[in-house]
Amino acid sequence: MKKIAILGSTGSIGTQTLEIVRNNPDLQVVALAAGSNVGRMEEQIREFHPLVVCMWAEKAAADLRSRVSDMDVRILSGMEGLLEIAVFPQSQVLVTAIVGMIGIRPTIAAIEAGKDIALANKETLVTAGHIIMPLAEKHKVAILPVDSEHSAIFQALNVNGEGGGQSIEKILLTASGGPFRGRTRQQLRHIRPEDALKHPNWSMGRKVTIDSSTLVNKGLEVMEAKWLFGVDVDQIQVVVHPQSIIHSAVQFMDGAIIAQLGVPDMKLPIQYALFYPDRRPMGGKRVDLFELGQLTFEKPDMDTFRGLAFGYQAARTGGSMPTVYNAANEIAVKFFLNGVLPFLEITELIGEAMAQHRTIKEPTIEEILETEKLTHEYILKKKKIW
Ligand SMILES: NC(=O)c1ccc[n+]([C@@H]2O[C@H](COP(=O)([O-])OP(=O)(O)OC[C@H]3O[C@@H](n4cnc5c(N)ncnc54)[C@H](OP(=O)(O)O)[C@@H]3O)[C@@H](O)[C@H]2O)c1
Repeated sequence: MKKIAILGSTGSIGTQTLEIVRNNPDLQVVALAAGSNVGRMEEQIREFHPLVVCMWAEKAAADLRSRVSDMDVRILSGMEGLLEIAVFPQSQVLVTAIVGMIGIRPTIAAIEAGKDIALANKETLVTAGHIIMPLAEKHKVAILPVDSEHSAIFQALNVNGEGGGQSIEKILLTASGGPFRGRTRQQLRHIRPEDALKHPNWSMGRKVTIDSSTLVNKGLEVMEAKWLFGVDVDQIQVVVHPQSIIHSAVQFMDGAIIAQLGVPDMKLPIQYALFYPDRRPMGGKRVDLFELGQLTFEKPDMDTFRGLAFGYQAARTGGSMPTVYNAANEIAVKFFLNGVLPFLEITELIGEAMAQHRTIKEPTIEEILETEKLTHEYILKKKKIW
C-alpha cells in the first residue's frame, strides 16, 4: 500500500490525483490540504477518509470541522497546517498540486522528512530550484515531475536508462501555442478573460490556463526543466506543436530523439509519478496516428508572446530573477482575471518588474519570499498610478 498526501486536493491536478487513487486500491490517501473549497473537501473526506486535513483559511477550517464532526479526521489551518500535512509520518509521497510560491516551505519540509515529491507546483522549482534540488539529493528523495512536458522528458530519459541526463544534447519542450497562436499584438489588444480561459487542448486551473495563453507557462517550464534535468538554458528549445500529442522529447548526443506521445490527459503523468518506475494500466482514449494524419511544429513567436522571451531572460539571469518573473506574473494574472488589466499588459508588467530588480545571486528562502513581496508591492504601486 502506497500512502500519499496531497497539497491542493480540490484543484485540477488534485482531483485528477484522487481519480487515480480511486482506480488503484493499493494507493491510500492519508492527508489532504486545500485553500477554501470546503464543500469539495468535505466530499473528499467522506470518500477517501484521510487522517488529517488542512484548509488554508481558519474560517474554512472551522466550517469544515463542524461539517465533518461525525468523522474521525483532524482539521488544521494555515502554514502550520500545511507543514504538518507535508511531513505527516504515515505518508511516503507528497503530491504538490497547490498553486503558487506558497508551496516552497511545505516542499522543503517534506524533503527534509524524507518524502518523495510528485511535483506539479512548478513555482517551487522556478524560484528555489537551487535549494530544492541539492536538498533532495542530500535526503535521497525523488523529485518526480507531474507537469506533462517534464514527465515526458523524464520518461524519455528513463527509456534510455539515463537517470541523470549526462548524454542530453537538447531538450525539445513542446507547447501547444495556446488559444492565440498565430495572432498579432494588435489582435491581442482586446482579449477578455473568458477568451484566454479557453485552452484548445488542456483543461486546467484558471491561473495556469492564462499562463498558457501568454506563454508565461512555457517560460516557467524552461526554468523547471533546467533544474529537474540539470541542463543549461540554451539546451532547452521550445517547439510549438499545436496538436499536443508529443508532450516533449530529448535529443541525445548521438542525434537520437526520444519523445513521449499520448492524448492530452494529466492523469498519465500523475500516475507515472505515483508508481515510478512501474507503469500501470490506464483506460481512456488512445492516440490514433491515422486519425491524426499529421503532427506539425513551429518556432514560438517571442515578439508577440513576450512572456516567453522574458522567461528565457529570467532563466539565464537566474538567482532571484525567476522569482520576480513568477511573482509579477501571479499578480498581473489576478488583475487580468478581475478585468482591470489588459491582456498584453500582463507580460509588459513582468518585463518592467524584471528591469527594476537587482538580482541576488543565490537567494535564501527568506530572500526569495522578500523578493516576491517587493515585486507584489512594486506592481500594486504601479496600479495606483494607472
Ligand atoms: N492543471 C494542470 O493541468 C497543470 C498542469 C501542469 C502543472 N500544473 C501546476 O500544478 C499546480 C496546480 O495547478 P492546478 O491547475 O491544479 O490549480 P487549481 O485548479 O487552481 O488548484 C489549486 C489548488 O491549490 C489550493 N490552494 C490555493 N491556495 C492555497 C493555499 N494558500 N493553501 C492551501 N491550498 C491552496 C486550491 O484550493 P481551493 O480551491 O480550495 O482554494 C486548489 O486545491 C500549479 O503550480 C500549476 O502550474 C497544473
